[in-house]
Amino acid sequence: MSPFHLTRILPEDATEAALRADVLEGLTRNPKTLPPKWFYDTRGSELFEEITRLPEYYPSRAEREILLARAHAIAESSGARTMVELGSGSSEKTRYLLDALRGLHTYVPVDVSTSALRQAAQTLAAERPELEIHALIADFTSQLTMPHTPGPRLMVFLGGTVGNLLPSERSTFLTSIRALMTPGDALLLGTDLVKEEKTLVQAYDDAAGVTAAFNKNVLNVLNRELGADFDPSAFDHVAAWDAQNQWIEMRLRARTAQAVKIPALDLLVDFTAGEELRTEVSAKFQEEGVREELSAAGMELTQWWTDEAGRFALSLSRVS
Ligand code: AVJ
Repeated sequence: MSPFHLTRILPEDATEAALRADVLEGLTRNPKTLPPKWFYDTRGSELFEEITRLPEYYPSRAEREILLARAHAIAESSGARTMVELGSGSSEKTRYLLDALRGLHTYVPVDVSTSALRQAAQTLAAERPELEIHALIADFTSQLTMPHTPGPRLMVFLGGTVGNLLPSERSTFLTSIRALMTPGDALLLGTDLVKEEKTLVQAYDDAAGVTAAFNKNVLNVLNRELGADFDPSAFDHVAAWDAQNQWIEMRLRARTAQAVKIPALDLLVDFTAGEELRTEVSAKFQEEGVREELSAAGMELTQWWTDEAGRFALSLSRVS
């Protein structure tokens, strides 16, 4: 087995400090919010895997369909010798790209989860002994330093996760990705598309209640990490389409008036009956909007692929 490198950019204690800062800031403002990145502890990651298999949750299947159909076109168009994958997780869907990119020299998976990175890198190293694997433990929304690897580079950001960023965060994020690229490099971006409201809402409010459990799990994360005393059963899961902003919002609605202690922050948080805490936005896009946002970040969208049903898109962009 070829060795792989594992580089930690994120300090060991950064996660805890970031969680505290986010919770303090989000729960002391009105309306209350929490950033979606705190969903993904071990249980949350399992629940998300379960979501991707739900009949209502189409994005994962739609994106897989596009990757399967277009991996060779993407590989040929990019000619990549290095592939950088942001939020790689289990690197599962990436397999299609790795298989198609025959001239690939180095794979750089980037994720906050050390265990997911180690697991993915180990499996891949066994299968592709000639491939250099340089895993980065990092938060892709913060400043990244890339290892020196051969170009051209293909930057990959799948799953529609770019939609979890607010518009201003998205613009900062795309600009920082652009800063890592040189002429000849490309960005492959997955974006969920605007569609009928009912389809969107059902994808975030499934009949089996898995998304509700995923949403409430963030309260368990706060209980465990910050010693909070949230009662998850005292909140209802809410999924709503915001037509103005073109995004799905997930919220937790307090069933009754309640006060929650967060000892690690020395904080008492009051909820009125029916008060909603926003836990996620998941923006849905149209081709023109994606083109404009990429253009504003200094990239030119050159290819656009959707699944047969037109639900999800992958775009390929270049430095402009
Ligand atoms: C994987 C982050 C893109 O926003 O659709 C799934 C997360 N949230 N169901 C999404 C999620 C609720 C998912 N992303």
